[in-house]
Amino acid sequence: MKNTPKRYTVTAALPYANGGIHLGHLAGAYLPADIYVRYRRLKGDDVIFVCGSDEHGVPITLGARKEGITPQAFVDKYHLLMKNSFEEFGISFNIYSRTSNKIHHETAQEFFLNLYKKNDFIEETSLQFYDEQEKTYLADRYIQGTCPNCSYEKAYGDQCERCGTSLSPKDLINPVSALSGKSPVLKETKHWFLPLQKYESWLREWILEGHKDDWKSNVYGQCKSWLDQGLQPRAMTRDLDWGVKVPLPDSEGKVLYVWFDAPIGYISATKEYFEKESKSGNRKADDWKLYWQDKDTELIHFIGKDNIVFHCIIFPAILHAHGEYILPGNVPANEFLNLEGEKLSTSRNWAVWLHEYLADFPGRQDELRFVLGSILPEAKDSDFSWRDYQARINNELVAILGNFVNRTMVLTRNYFNSKVPPRHELNTIDLECIQQLETISSKIGACIEQFRFRDALVELMNLARTGNKYLAENEPWKVINTDKARVETVLNLSLEITAALAVLSNPFIPGAAENMMKMLQLDPLKWNAVTGKPIFKEGHQLGESALLFKKVEDAEIEKQLEKLQATRQPVMVNAVDGNNKNEPAGNSKSEITYDDFAKLEFRVGTIVTAEKVKKADKLLQLKINLGTETRTIVSGIAEHYAPENIIGQQVCVVANLAPRKIKGIESKGMILMAEDASGKLKFVMPSEKVDDGSSVS
Ligand code: 2FM
Ligand code: ZN
Repeated sequence: MKNTPKRYTVTAALPYANGGIHLGHLAGAYLPADIYVRYRRLKGDDVIFVCGSDEHGVPITLGARKEGITPQAFVDKYHLLMKNSFEEFGISFNIYSRTSNKIHHETAQEFFLNLYKKNDFIEETSLQFYDEQEKTYLADRYIQGTCPNCSYEKAYGDQCERCGTSLSPKDLINPVSALSGKSPVLKETKHWFLPLQKYESWLREWILEGHKDDWKSNVYGQCKSWLDQGLQPRAMTRDLDWGVKVPLPDSEGKVLYVWFDAPIGYISATKEYFEKESKSGNRKADDWKLYWQDKDTELIHFIGKDNIVFHCIIFPAILHAHGEYILPGNVPANEFLNLEGEKLSTSRNWAVWLHEYLADFPGRQDELRFVLGSILPEAKDSDFSWRDYQARINNELVAILGNFVNRTMVLTRNYFNSKVPPRHELNTIDLECIQQLETISSKIGACIEQFRFRDALVELMNLARTGNKYLAENEPWKVINTDKARVETVLNLSLEITAALAVLSNPFIPGAAENMMKMLQLDPLKWNAVTGKPIFKEGHQLGESALLFKKVEDAEIEKQLEKLQATRQPVMVNAVDGNNKNEPAGNSKSEITYDDFAKLEFRVGTIVTAEKVKKADKLLQLKINLGTETRTIVSGIAEHYAPENIIGQQVCVVANLAPRKIKGIESKGMILMAEDASGKLKFVMPSEKVDDGSSVS
């Protein structure tokens, strides 16, 4: 019977078009999704892999405001940056679309109208904060005030960043508009709510009973906790002028809630893809329906853990209410990736940006894929560090995989003119090796199918280790002098292992896999080609061999570590951009004791000289008089102050920080800065002039 390939729709969370892609994004959703998709394609399954930029919502309007450009110009810029980074990194989307496209607006509006006509929404008029000066209703993030819980004066309308309490704007004491700084007024406005509580029992059955065994425990646990708390109606519209317009009369100035429209972006991207394919005659435009409405299709959403509720509860409720769509079969959400032991933070620029990595390490995409693949935060948060990056590449990719492939190729060239030698009688070691080949592809496949990519990669490296052990035990370089036939068998099997590695490594390190196939002069092979039965015919001519991976030098790592420190925003008061993917909401720093605080020494000093640091747009080198000494401090304030304007300025300094080299300059201390909602930095200073060296407590 013919084995019909299974059909898969794989999505990766649409990133907000408000910055670049960083390693946290990759480890959260895009790399695991790409490994999965490449594996499915190699298995011969029918897969569509869709993604695109999420171009609506407060993160976009806030970002555009901060940069002083229109939301459209803002998303155009970041959409391109993200699209190019994904492409260059080799994330193999069928389509990378964007939610500002017409097809998306139409699709999202159709969805909304479908539910509206079925009376699935509750219309409700409520009082919302309105900025009379700016003539606009204020989204929760646009309102700041004093937290009723901890008295922090800069709490946001949806959350206090100091104590982590989740808030509603009306909870804030003395609320002010982040747009005008004025007190907002309460004004009536109408919105359409999805009564999530109506779907609660259906969701309980579908998730808690239906997916107990196949969803990851972190995902299942989060869903259970949401459902146990009881679901509330959620507004599916907002008062904003940027987004998908509400397709109803009398709804001027209202758009769809970004979390209503964004997941529908997966569907519109699929439509767009098939529309394009139909123009080149490959597929029919209507084929998108197979991938979204045919129950033989498995829908899989790859996301980070901050998106679980939207993909497991809200979007499925919308799909269910619509009625014509399939539901996600799995939502393998990852936890967060930290950086050098600290939480990743886009607002503090504590991140490694993909476009910068690609520029600093050209052609070394696979190295990053390998390292990230080995540390994916699958079950709990994990940490990326540059030293670990170096160690994993040098000790594993270069020393194990690269070394085995290279030795096999070079020995075959030296002894057999790069022709695959014959296989003679097999001994126990040979048979064990073949046995290993038989089982390894199904082991790796099983891991991938269970979304255990780290384990899959360990298995892959074990195969390379087996190869090295096989060569070491058989010592062809010695045996060649006494028993050429034995060496023929050993290298024949080593080449079979190399071919298996070339196939099985493809989902993880596709560039290296392709290079191996080229060296072996093999046409593309499917996953199931690795069975333990010979892939090569005797006498098959191999190609030229080249080193697969390059060692990472200490200097390259030092440079990255220096760059991280130099570009880190030395901000003590953290402004929150409301969209730090991979940054858990709540406190960005954990609570400390008084003793921890008492370890810090703050002093007042006067800036005596200030100059720009060469080749660093953001840095100024300052000399600061602290009474008994003059300190050099490098500070990331060049975009906020011209050096000539700050001579004589008094500032507060953290005086007992360990010295740090920034761009080759030793910086001894840090200046306290306040950052407002628009991202502007201002010095924190005494209200009146005090003696230099005065302590601050
Ligand atoms: O968290 C985020 O970055 C969102 N832009 C993800 C959206 S995923 C999907 F729903 F589109
Ligand atoms: Zn608080």
